[in-house]
Amino acid sequence: MSTASFPEGFVWGVSTSAFQIEGATSAGGRGPSIWDVFSADRAEACDHYHRYPEDVRLMKDLGMAAYRFSVSWPRVFPDASGKVNEAGLDFYDRLLDALLAVGITPYATLYHWDLPQAVEELGGWPSRDTARRFADYAAAVHGRLGDRVDTWFTLNEPWVAAFLGYGDGSHAPGRKSAAEAFRSAHHMMLAHGLATQALRSGGAARVGTVLNISPVLTPAQVSDFGRRLSEEDAEAVARIDALANRQFLEPMLRGSYPAEILPIIERNGGLDHIRDGDLDIIAQPLDLLGINYYSPSVVQAQPSEPAASAYPGSEGVLFCTIPTAVTAMGWPIVPNCLSLVLRRLSAEYPELDLMVTENGADFVDVVTGDGIHDVERISFVEEHLRALLSAVEDGARVRGYLVWTLLDNFEWTEGYQRKFGLVHVDFATQKRRPKDSALWYRDVIRRNGLTETRPKRPTLETVAARSGVSRATVSRVVNGEASVSPEVRTAVMRAVKELGYVPNAAARSLVTRRTNAIALVLSVPRQGDALTAAVVQYVTSMLEGAGKQITLMLADTAESHRRIVQQAEARLVDGVVLLPPDRGDTLAERLSRTDVPIVLLGKPAVASLVPYVDVDNAGGAAAATEHLLASGRRRIGMICGPMDLVAVQDRLAGHRAALQRAGAQPLLALADLTRASGAAAARQLLGDEPALDAVFAATDQLAVGALQAARELGRRVPEDLAIVGFDDIDAASATTPGLTTVRVPLAEQALAVARLLLSRLEGRHTTSVVLPTRLVVRESS
Ligand code: FCB
Repeated sequence: MSTASFPEGFVWGVSTSAFQIEGATSAGGRGPSIWDVFSADRAEACDHYHRYPEDVRLMKDLGMAAYRFSVSWPRVFPDASGKVNEAGLDFYDRLLDALLAVGITPYATLYHWDLPQAVEELGGWPSRDTARRFADYAAAVHGRLGDRVDTWFTLNEPWVAAFLGYGDGSHAPGRKSAAEAFRSAHHMMLAHGLATQALRSGGAARVGTVLNISPVLTPAQVSDFGRRLSEEDAEAVARIDALANRQFLEPMLRGSYPAEILPIIERNGGLDHIRDGDLDIIAQPLDLLGINYYSPSVVQAQPSEPAASAYPGSEGVLFCTIPTAVTAMGWPIVPNCLSLVLRRLSAEYPELDLMVTENGADFVDVVTGDGIHDVERISFVEEHLRALLSAVEDGARVRGYLVWTLLDNFEWTEGYQRKFGLVHVDFATQKRRPKDSALWYRDVIRRNGLTETRPKRPTLETVAARSGVSRATVSRVVNGEASVSPEVRTAVMRAVKELGYVPNAAARSLVTRRTNAIALVLSVPRQGDALTAAVVQYVTSMLEGAGKQITLMLADTAESHRRIVQQAEARLVDGVVLLPPDRGDTLAERLSRTDVPIVLLGKPAVASLVPYVDVDNAGGAAAATEHLLASGRRRIGMICGPMDLVAVQDRLAGHRAALQRAGAQPLLALADLTRASGAAAARQLLGDEPALDAVFAATDQLAVGALQAARELGRRVPEDLAIVGFDDIDAASATTPGLTTVRVPLAEQALAVARLLLSRLEGRHTTSVVLPTRLVVRESS
C-alpha cells in the first residue's frame, strides 16, 4: 500500500481573506471596517481587488481546485442604513466568473474579521442586533452570488474575533473587556445560526463554519500524547479546551454550552445575553466544519497564575513555551497535533465532514536571483499533510486541505512583515513570484499525494505519523527507554510492525548518542558588542529551556580552534552555535565537515551550506541612503568600516545600490571601528568634497566620530551636514543631536539562532534567516 496518496476527490486549494489581500478600501463605495480604523499599516495589501485576474491565473497555473476567499461585509453594507451596495457585490461577481471560467471551485467565507465600522459604532459584536444584521448581510450576498457558490462558511475563527478583538484588545476593534468578549462570542454564534437559516432558505447547497481548533496539551504531552496527567494539570487542560475549543464546538454542534464554561461567563458579566431559544438557532445542522490548525496550546496548572486576558477564566493556568522548532512567527511546529485534532473531531462528531481550511507558516524568505527556495515552508506543509493523511487512514472524514495562503499579505497586528504566501509579493511593485513551495504544492495536487517526494522505505516520520507521537518518542521506544507510557509503546510498536520499519542509525542516535551539550563559540567579541551579550543571554536561556547544557568556548587562538573541532569530531557536543564568523576564518568550514549540526550568527565570508542568521545589512543601508536622498541630500559620503567584515561589505553594497538608483556617485572613506577613525574619515571626506551634505557611516561608533568632526569643523548637523549611522547602539539616542540610525534586532537574532539549531537537531530542513532592519530617524538628518 502506498501511504502517501490522498482519497479520490480530495479537494486541494488555498485560503485568503478580504481585508488581508484586497486593498482598494474605498473603491466601489466600500465603507470602512474596524480593521481600517484599528490598523496603522497601509491598506493597499495585495491590491487583489484590481489584480484578481492575475491571481486567478496564478491559481490556475498552480493547479488549485478550490479557492476559499472571504466577502468584505463593508463592501456590501458600507454603512448602517441597511441598504445594499451593489457595486461592492459586483467585485465578487467578477471574481467568481473568473474562477469558474478556469474550473476553480469557490468557497465563500462571510466573516473574516472585517466588521463594518458603522456596525461597531452601534455596539459591534457585544450588541445582539449585530447578529441580525449579519443574517441580512448573508442573505444579500447569497441572493447575488448563490448561483455560483456551493459552499458557504459563515464565520472564520470566532474565538479570535471575540477574544482578541474584544477581550485582550490586540485585534480590532481593540476593546478590552472579558464580559464583551463572551457576549461577542455568543452573538457571533447566534449570527452563524441566523445566517445559516437565511442561506438554507435561499437554497444554499452546503453550509459550514470555520473554527481554529488547537489541541490543548501539557509540555510533557507534546512528545507523548498518551501521557497521564496529574489532576491539576488535567483540570487546566480541560478548562482551556473548553474556553478555546468547546465554547464554540458544543453550542454549534450539540446545542449546549460546556458545563464548566457557564460559571465563568456568569462571573464575567452575567448570562442574560444568552436567551431562551438561542442555542436552538445556533445549533443548525452543518454540512462541513472547517478547521484552521497552526499549533497546539500548551498549558499546565500553576496556582498563582492570573488569568490571561485572551482567556478570561484561565486563572491558575500557565501558558507554556515549548522547546520545539518554531516558525518565524514563533509558533511551535507540531504536525502530529493536526492528526490529533482530526481524529478527535471525527470521534466526537462521526457524521460531520471536515476540511482543513487553513494551515501554513511564516518563514523569512530570501529572494535570490534564481527564486525563493523556501524549503522550510515545504517541509511544514509536507509534514502536516502526512499527519492529515494518517488521520484519514484511521477513518477521519477530511474532505480537503487549503494552504494558508496564496499571497504574502497583511497579517493583522503583524502587518506586512509576515510571509505566509506560497507566492511572494513585492509590495513596492505588487509583482507576484511563486516560491518553491508553490511549485512543490502544484506537484502534490497533480499527483494527489506525496508519493514521489519520499522514499517508500518507512522512516522515523512515517512511524511517528502513523502512531500519532513525535519522532523523539518513537526513538525512545525503539531504544527501549523506560520513560514512555505503555499505551504509547504499544501504538508505536504496532506502527513499527505494520510498516515494516527498521530503526536506522538516525533513529538510534536521536536518543542514544545525544550528549545534550551545545557549544556556544564566541570569536573575539567586537567592541561594545551588545549582540554578543544578547546571544549569550537568549541562546543560553532558550537552549537550556530545551534541556541542553551550554558550554561557552572562546575561539581566539589556533589552539582553541583545534580543541573546538576536536570536541565536535568526538561528538562531545550535539551542536555548535558560532559567532561571529565574519573574519574569513576557517573554523566554520572545519566544523561543517564534522557531522555535528552547526549554525552561524552572521553571514560567513565564504559562501557555504551552513545555515546562518543575519540582518538585512544591504536593505538597511539602502533605506538610510534613500532617506538622505529623499531629504534632498546629493553629495553623500560613506565611512566604511574594515572591509573584511561581511556586514560592512553588505552595507556598502546597499548604499551603492541606492545611490545608483538615484543616479548619484559614491564617495568613500575607510576606517577601522573606532570613533577616532570615524572622525578622521569624516574630515577626509569633507576635505575631498567641500560640497558634502551628508555622511552615512557603517556603524554608530563611526557616526559618533563623524559628529565630533563636524562640530570641530563648525559644520551644523543636520543643516549643513546630515549624519546617519548603523546599529542603533544605546549611545545613538544620547548624542546631540540624536543620531539617525538603522536598528538591528538583537534578541530576535539570538532567538533565531537558537531556533535554527533546535530545528537542525530535530533533523528538519533549515535555511538561513535574514531579519529585517529598521530606520530610526532622529535629529541628525
Ligand atoms: C489565522 C487567520 C488568518 C491568518 C492566519 C495566519 O488565524 O484566520 O487570517 O492570519 O491565522
